[in-house]
Amino acid sequence: MDPNTPPHPRAAAPQDPLVVYFSSISGNTAKFVAKLGFPTVRIPLRTGEDTPIMDRPFVLCVPTYGRPRSGETIPPQVMKFLREPRNRELMLGVMGAGNTNFGEDFGIAADKIAAKCQVPVLYKFELMGTSEDVTRVHEGLTAFWTRNCPPLPA
Ligand SMILES: Cc1cc2nc3c(=O)[nH]c(=O)nc-3n(C[C@H](O)[C@H](O)[C@H](O)COP(=O)(O)O)c2cc1C
Repeated sequence: MDPNTPPHPRAAAPQDPLVVYFSSISGNTAKFVAKLGFPTVRIPLRTGEDTPIMDRPFVLCVPTYGRPRSGETIPPQVMKFLREPRNRELMLGVMGAGNTNFGEDFGIAADKIAAKCQVPVLYKFELMGTSEDVTRVHEGLTAFWTRNCPPLPA
């Protein structure tokens, strides 16, 4: 096996970072998150579907979808997820996906969520991210998890 292959999600240790994400049908964020090799929970595509209610700490990964008429940038599916108090309580940080063509609105949904929910913006990346983004997030999130979610003593 290629030593650079990230571990399969099912092989992840219980204390591994958990990534909750939304991705539209273009699937960029889904592709990025899959490359991390951490356990994941996907927020459903349809707002009519039940939103996940979390029972352990996680980081959120969210693309920005700007709507010029309303000025909103957070996908409604993510708004529904964040309306659950338990989800807001357990969220440790947020990562933003976007496209730098949008200038100062690049990944702005993550900034808005961070400000509203009082969590840090951990990282921003374009589209499905580069291999450097994957390495940096994998390392950074592992260190962040060790600091914020130390394993329980045996
Ligand atoms: C209608 C529309 C509006 C968008 N608005 C923004 C934006 O304001 N800022 C930004 O950084 N990216 C914006 N994007 C780019 C998406 O965030 C980017 O393509 C992202 O990778 C989509 O993720 P997904 O394929 O997982 O849904 C927009 C894309 C679309 C189609």
